[in-house]
This record gives sequence, structure tokens and C-alpha cells, in this order.
Amino acid sequence: MERYIVAGGNPLSGTLAVQGAKNSALPIIAACILSPGRTVLHNVPQLTDIDVMLEILRTVGAKVVWQDQSTLSIDSSSLDNWRIPESLMRRMRSSFFVVGPLLSRFGQVRVTYPGGCAIGTRSIDLHLKGLEKLGVEIKPTQSGHIDFRGDNLRGASIDLDIPSVGATENIMMAAVTAQGTTVIRNPAREPEIVDLGNYLQKLGAQISGAGTDKIVIQGVTQLGESNHTIIPDRIVAGTLILAAAITGGEIVLTNVIPGHLSAVIAKLAEMGVSVDAGSDTLRVVAQDGLNPVDKIITAPYPGFPTDMQAQFMAALASARGVSVIVEKIFDGRFKHVNELRRMGANISVDERTAIVRGVDSLSGASVEASDLRAGAALVLAALGSKGITTVNGVWHIDRGYVALEKQLSSLGAKITREKGD
Ligand code: UD1
Repeated sequence: MERYIVAGGNPLSGTLAVQGAKNSALPIIAACILSPGRTVLHNVPQLTDIDVMLEILRTVGAKVVWQDQSTLSIDSSSLDNWRIPESLMRRMRSSFFVVGPLLSRFGQVRVTYPGGCAIGTRSIDLHLKGLEKLGVEIKPTQSGHIDFRGDNLRGASIDLDIPSVGATENIMMAAVTAQGTTVIRNPAREPEIVDLGNYLQKLGAQISGAGTDKIVIQGVTQLGESNHTIIPDRIVAGTLILAAAITGGEIVLTNVIPGHLSAVIAKLAEMGVSVDAGSDTLRVVAQDGLNPVDKIITAPYPGFPTDMQAQFMAALASARGVSVIVEKIFDGRFKHVNELRRMGANISVDERTAIVRGVDSLSGASVEASDLRAGAALVLAALGSKGITTVNGVWHIDRGYVALEKQLSSLGAKITREKGD
């Protein structure tokens, strides 16, 4: 097990290009299954979650090659398998993305329930209901598998109770070759939905409204092949901005889409952090010390992202006053609180609300990452603290950040990766 050793207190400075978005790359790699030919994807982050998705694609018969550090070639011209073993399904929740495209390609799929970050109840009922509406028969088996059959998918009108990102993506991928028109109402509007829609359109799908409150898909009988560049990762960008903020630093990020970070930038302004947006750059200038925020309430896009909640809590733990954070998306996403307390944070939690009373400064401790973003939050807390912090469970962080220690070191942070016991 690897761990990070972080020495806090160094203001960050310098320029860094932000990696491609994991949450865009995962569904788009799954969507490559829909293409009868070869896809070249650019700006793909090399992450363990991406490796799992590529393993799943190899399992169904795709030929996958990294052409360079961030360019993937995926040839899905001769797929021959629609059964995904439990060992792969369990490794992450996003493994479930392959259900939609495999149904479209084979008319049947066998998977198990997916695994994923331990951040609360994460049901797949909306995926299943949406696919059923498209005419898919779903049968859970005695052995723990779920069998999907849908030889003749037909368009349908689907109202999502919650704008689920994954359910919206799965339904989009299954619907592109369904007969007739599919309308998804109350879909997720995240930038990653738009990116997937753009890729599917390049393949020849007829989709409109991705990124709005109604997506309309006109089924087509045949798809082609295409190339695509994955959008920059807004959560990684947000994490790096906070790393500068918490250390009182000054950095420039390139390869960003500033509009994707509006809710995050608004909160940073309240905290006294200046973020100047260029067309695809952000300049961050932080003073010494951060202001508290009145309230952060996580919400579906364009609201404040749940994936930035833990990192903001880490920064606000040493702000000049009291902040309130309400987690509305996931019911178990405060696991970082106990670890931040070990570093001296004063945080109380009542169900989904955390009251963060800023302390003068956090101090180094040995802490444990419980999930991906909680792990990133602990690294941020460590950067802003006095002393040395050990962050255990780095494998969680590797799921979403490409060598975070190298990214931060390039900005002057003191962080190293060590082999654990
Ligand atoms: C995606 C992101 C994740 C992010 C989350 C919310 C990817 C790979 N992951 O996860 O990083 O934290 O969006 O922005 O893109 N729900 C149901 N039934 C379902 C599906 C979801 O009740 O069938 C609930 C979930 O439990 C949760 C809420 O809907 O409370 C939102 O989940 P969803 O948007 O589906 O998140 P993911 O797609 O899993």
C-alpha cells in the first residue's frame, strides 16, 4: 500500500496543464463499443479507473493501444463477448456504463452489480428503469448476475426522478440505435454529458439537447467511427486551485474550460481567492488566509459539485470563521471529517450538514483516504498544515488524479510517494 508524505506550508507557484476528465473518458471509452471501427481518443488521463474500463473493453474483444501518454486507439470492429466477469464489475461503479452500448451492439449483456467509491447508497434503479422503458428485459439470476436482453430496442419517453449522471449516459448509449425517438426528461446536465453527446454525434448518432433539461435521440441503424478529444477535468482543476488557495500561492492552470467551474469559482471569490479566467486558462492568486463561506450546498450541475465538497471542507477547516456545508447528493460523503479532525479541524456533523469552525492552522498527522475525493481533500489539508502528514490509501487518489504528487511537486509542493507496509 502506498502513501504520501506531505510537508505543509509551501505556497504553490507555477503553471500546470490540467489532465483530461476521468468522468468524460469513462463513458466515452464505453461508448467506443458502439463503433464498428476504430476510435482515437485524445487527452485521456492514465488512471487506474481508466485501466479497468480498458480491461472491460479487451474482455469484450476490443483492441486497445496507448499511442502515447494520453492518446488511446480503440478498435471495436470485431467484438465477440457480452459477459463481464464480477472481478471487473466490482472494481468501480462506472463499469456499468458498458451495459447500454453492449445492448446496442449484441442485444444482450451479462454483468453483476457494480462496485465503486464508498460514499453512501448508490443505487442503479434509474439505469434499470430507463433501459426497461427502451424495451430491455432485465433478469437478476440466482448466481448474482443480471441478464439484460433487448433485441429490438425502441425509443421511449423517460423521466428521471433524479438527474443521475450515470443513468443519463447509459440511456443515451442504449438509445442511439433504438428504433424511433427517445426523450430523456430531467437528465443530468454535466459537461461530461455534453462531451459524450458530442462523441456519439461524431459516430453518427442523432442527439440534441445534451446539457439541457431535455435530450432527444433519434435512433439510427448504423454508426461509424471517429476521433475525439476528452474535455479537461473540472474537478482536478478545482482541486489544484484549492491547493494554491490553501497555501496562499499563485498558479496558472492551462487546458481548462473556465465555464465548467462557475459554481466553484463563485465560492472561491467568497473565500477571498482571485481566479481570473482566460479562454482556456485560469490564474489563481490567493492571499494568506481564507474567508469562510456562508453555505455550500452540493447540487447537480450547474450547482456546486459533490466531487469538490471534501476539498472545500479541507480548505475551510483553517478559514477565518464558520462555514456550513450541506451534502445533498450522496448520503455517506463525510468520511473525511474524522481524518480532518485528527489534523486539528473543528467540524461537527448532523446528518447531511457539516459546520466547519476554522482553526488557526491544521497540524500534521497520519490520516487515511476513504475514497477518491476524500483522499484529495486530505492532501490539500496537509499542504496547508504545519508539520508532516502521512496520507495512507493513495490508491484511492490514483483512481482520479494522474500522479497527484508529481502535479503538486511541479508547483513547488513538498510531497513524495512512499511504499507502505
Ligand atoms: C457521477 C460521477 C461522480 C459524481 C456523481 C455526482 C462518473 C463516473 N461519476 O457518478 O464522480 O460524484 O456523478 O455528480 O461520472 N441514484 C439513484 N439511482 C440510480 C442512479 C443514481 O438513486 O440509478 C442516485 C445516487 O445514489 C446519488 C444521485 O442519484 O444519490 C446521483 O448519482 P449519479 O448522478 O448517478 O452519480 P454517478 O453517475 O454514480
